[in-house]
Order: sequence, then C-alpha cells, then structure tokens
Amino acid sequence: MAASAKVVYCLKNRHKLQIRACPQERGVMKYLRHFLNVSVLVIITTFIVSLLLEFLPLLPQQASVEAISIDTMFSMHFRVISFLFALIVVFMLYSLVVFRNRGGETDPGDHFEGNTGLEIFWTIVPLIIVIYFAFIGAQSLADVTRTEPDALEVDVIAFQWSWSFEYPAYGVTSTTLYLPKDRQTVLNLTSRDVIHSFWVPEFRVKQDALPGKDFVRQLRITPIKTGDYMVRCAELCGGAHAYMNSPVVVVEPEEFEIWLISQQNAGETGDSVTRGKALAETMGCLSCHSTDGTTLVGPTWKNMYGHEVTLIDGTRVMVDELYLRRAILQPNDEIVEGFQPIMPSYEGLLTEEQIADLIAYMKSLE
Ligand code: CUA
Repeated sequence: MAASAKVVYCLKNRHKLQIRACPQERGVMKYLRHFLNVSVLVIITTFIVSLLLEFLPLLPQQASVEAISIDTMFSMHFRVISFLFALIVVFMLYSLVVFRNRGGETDPGDHFEGNTGLEIFWTIVPLIIVIYFAFIGAQSLADVTRTEPDALEVDVIAFQWSWSFEYPAYGVTSTTLYLPKDRQTVLNLTSRDVIHSFWVPEFRVKQDALPGKDFVRQLRITPIKTGDYMVRCAELCGGAHAYMNSPVVVVEPEEFEIWLISQQNAGETGDSVTRGKALAETMGCLSCHSTDGTTLVGPTWKNMYGHEVTLIDGTRVMVDELYLRRAILQPNDEIVEGFQPIMPSYEGLLTEEQIADLIAYMKSLE
C-alpha cells in the first residue's frame, strides 16, 4: 500500500519524477519514458529532414552515368546527416524544455559514472557505418574511373583563361566541347600555365588540369541527356578565373558525326583573317579581349589597329603590326592604361604564320 501511494505522489509532481527519481523508479525505468519520447522525436525529425534534403533542388540536373553513382552516395549521406542532425537537435531541445528549472530546484543533478556498454555501442556502430561508406566510395570510384573500349578521346587544354578541346582521332580543335550522348568520353586534361580544374556540375565529376606534359590527368564522362552545359574552372587561377567558362554541348551520336565533319571541312579552308579568328577562339584570346568594343580584362580589339594608345607610363604608342607582335610575345612590357599586367606570353606557343593570322584578324576588326 505504502509503495503505490508513493507512485501517485511522484506522478502528480512531474518535476520530481523527472529530476529526482521516485524510489520505485530507480534504474532504467526512471529514464525509459524520456528515452522513448526522444527516440520517437528523433525518428520523426530524421524523416522530415531527409525528405526536405531529398526534394529540395540541392543538386543540378543529373546528366551523366557518373552522376548517378555519385548522387546515390549523396542521398545516403543526406540520410546520415539528417539522423545526426535530429540526434543533436532533438536531445538539445528536449533537455531545454523538459528538464528546465521550474523554480525552487537547488539540488545538484544526478551523477553518472559512464556506461561501458553504451560506449562500445556508439563506437562500433559508427565504425561499421564508416567502413560501409568507405566500401561504397571505393566502388563508386571504380565506376567513374572505368574506361569503356569504345570511348571517345578528347584532349582538354586549360590556360589563362579559357579551354581548348582537341579531338586527336579527327584532327579537330574546338572552343566548344561537343559530346555524343550515351558514349563514354575520356578527357585528357593538361594546362599550359597554372593549375585549373575542369568541372561541369551536371556531370558531377571534377578533375584538376596540371601544367607539364608529364602530368596528364584523365576524367571520364558518359552523358545521358542532350543539352547545353557549361564547363567552369574550379581552381582559383588568376585575374579572369571567374570567367573561365566554355560551352559544352551534348548531342545525339549522328549529330555528333555531322558536327565533326563540318569542323574538319572548316579547318581546310579560309584566308588569313578566318584562320586568325579561329585561332583567337581556340587560344582563348577572346575570353579577355572583346571584338565588339566591350571592355573585358584586356583592351578590346575593335578599332584598335592604326590608333594610338596610352601606356601606364604615360607614353603613347601606335598600334601597328610591330606593336601587336610585341603585345603577343612580351605582353607585360607595354601595359595599356587602365589594365593589369596579367596577360601570359604566347612566345613558343604560336608560329610566325599564326601570329600574322592573328594580327590580320585584329586589323579586320574596324
Ligand atoms: Cu582556370 Cu580558374
């Protein structure tokens, strides 16, 4: 009789039940109710947060086979993150609300001496999860680095501040990366100057392009959606890094063949100005120099030839063939007023004929 009366007393005085155990509720039972409450709240919060993460458009569209494998890992991580978030936030808010001081409580809280069983549990379980993630991570890495036998090879050359794409099997060079749908492309990445990084978010995979012929890095992409994308440089590489974008176009295989043939024909014809224009595009000149009068990182080429310019030291120079040649080979000797000395030298990168073609193109821009 006396024992049951005590239980009623405890249940009526809620704070006493929570903060200080009733004699009848010592041990596990004392905390079981809170444990069950928190467990249910953690499950509900995990569910809501993972639904949110799953349905919010956090990732761009999935446009390659490689993206599927990477997104599967992303969504598994989202679930683990949701659970950990719930675990921390629910416990914290539950404690703040349920165990708040209701006034007049001056007793010290219960003292705990640790719990070996619990410590073993929360060491072993995360260890298993981490090992499992390492395993699927290795599987995914093997997936995205496997080369298919019929892969298309494209040499990607990064430079300050643009990209050039060469199709060695077809003798084609382009400033737009054309890719056939449903066929793997192996990109061989190199850089002419500093470290750049090739990244098309819709394809998910990313790879640095390093300077030096011995440091070719490979990246494999198997597009599954036709459309227009954009390659971004994902490595801070100097003044115009933010503008180091080039178009990427994924087309049906038949359309890709037609594009290749049109490019091959285009390369065989053309006068000096046409060749100079193509060269300005593939060498990336036009990512810094406009041809329509707009000011980019470098002076515009429109109406440049035959006019005087003021240099940063105040001297005036006539823009003629000799000046343009110096500007291409030793660009930082004569900086035009209002611009930064950031242009790389093209010495050794262009033949005399190519320099003449470029100058012919600049002359044509009136
Ligand atoms: Cu190249 Cu940033």
